[in-house]
Amino acid sequence: MDESDVVRIFDTTLRDGEQSPGISLNLKEKVEIAEQLARLGVDVIEAGFPIASEGEAEAVKAIAATVRGPVVAGLARVDAVDIDRAAEAVGRAERPRIHTFIATSEIHMRAKLRMTPAEVLAAAVGGVERARSHVGDVEFSCEDATRSDPEFLAEVYRATAAAGATTLNLPDTVGYALPDEFAALLRFLRESVDRDVVWSVHTHDDLGLAVANALAGIEAGARQVEVAVNGIGERAGNCSLEEIVMAIRTRGDVRGIRTNVQSREIARTSRLVSMLTGYAVPPNKAIVGANAFAHEAGIHQHGVMVERTTYEIMDPVDVGLEGSRIVLGKHSGRHAFVKALEELGFGNLSADDVERAFERFKALADRKIRITDVDLEAIVVDEIAQDADEFELISIQVAGGTHMSPTATVRLQHGDEVIDESAIGDGMIDAACGAIQRATGIEARLESFTVSSVTGGIDALGDVTIVLATGDGSGSSPIRRATGRGVSTDVVEAAARAYLSAANRLTRLTARDQVVA
Ligand code: KIV
Ligand code: ZN
Repeated sequence: MDESDVVRIFDTTLRDGEQSPGISLNLKEKVEIAEQLARLGVDVIEAGFPIASEGEAEAVKAIAATVRGPVVAGLARVDAVDIDRAAEAVGRAERPRIHTFIATSEIHMRAKLRMTPAEVLAAAVGGVERARSHVGDVEFSCEDATRSDPEFLAEVYRATAAAGATTLNLPDTVGYALPDEFAALLRFLRESVDRDVVWSVHTHDDLGLAVANALAGIEAGARQVEVAVNGIGERAGNCSLEEIVMAIRTRGDVRGIRTNVQSREIARTSRLVSMLTGYAVPPNKAIVGANAFAHEAGIHQHGVMVERTTYEIMDPVDVGLEGSRIVLGKHSGRHAFVKALEELGFGNLSADDVERAFERFKALADRKIRITDVDLEAIVVDEIAQDADEFELISIQVAGGTHMSPTATVRLQHGDEVIDESAIGDGMIDAACGAIQRATGIEARLESFTVSSVTGGIDALGDVTIVLATGDGSGSSPIRRATGRGVSTDVVEAAARAYLSAANRLTRLTARDQVVA
């Protein structure tokens, strides 16, 4: 196989993925995910949409300045101010890219942009030219391409390629395409645009066809595929990174293609994104779901015991699911702890982060005899998630039982201020959440509450996910949802951490501009 057989993986977890309802990652969380994406071996990281907010621009800048290996892309509409903002944000990247787009479907041009096709064409060319004046690597997308007039699409792609776009991306923005027609459209465009560019596909999962459409696009000549970890993204999500990568790896024999991804980093990447976004992975999710390699029927179990490949088309080891290893215990010192962190890919943590994570580890080691790599990863990620937040949990005390009302007292750090609050509740978790609500002053409804465990066993870390919401959906009060996740051996503490994390996200979401693609 040569270079033309390599399908580039363009990861948009931090941009399209972060546009999923309720997700709002802080700068530190974004950098941590970007670093893991680099370890995973993706070719391009779309780090964000810098014009969307100051925070978004800062996160893209931080990723561009620190993450080495992949191309770092910033998204921009074709307007000059968007493009200049994106150029500034990716400026310090080793290999910067500007990804610019404009909608080309009749409905988007008329109802959203209020522009004629001729105006759209001119704006697209102007945008690409401006992007090229900043960087040599420019990607151009026709938003809602699959509902656009193919002849007009061809005209826009021809003109933008002539203006200097080096990658042309075909988005199925609303997840409308069927695989055969998507492939036919790409073939038609490749024939119509006689330029040496990389063709890319960007598919959404509204009909559950994102991966199938991306594969059809690759079959039709695309050599870049835009994906998100765990398939997160707008509405039903984006093409899932792990699914397309493993489809290419498992069936590359018939397709004659490959990717640069280190597949053994997939499970860890999936866990990290799930923890930091608060989006749990469904158990039956392909590749990374808890049941993806579980065999229930006796006949299957027997078959796998005799010969794994009777019912397994992939080796779980190849996606990084070797099972948990015991790495540390109560007597492990700081040195062993730091070494274990480095092995887990957390070698870049600041001294302060290491200190906090070590304290958390010591507290955990008092309650749990064997601490596995997955436990360690969970507490470190939990610490990272809480650290850069507005409110931080210092401590929680709860009391209750059959003869007294459950009561909780929390101590939070808010900037330089320490806040203590107490509340009585229907149960200890309710009391803990009530105390946090008082301490933060953030009023929100609890929409969902889920508990699972990080690993097995009676002393397993509890893993709580909470969704909070505000607003009633009226014009002046839009509904906002935020997801938070927390882990601890004590499920009340895990719930308190999850609640606080969701509350912190709600404040960020409210502050974030709603200028999203
Ligand atoms: O879905 C879409 O059209 C997008 C573009 C900005 C590429 O996300
Ligand atoms: Zn998209």
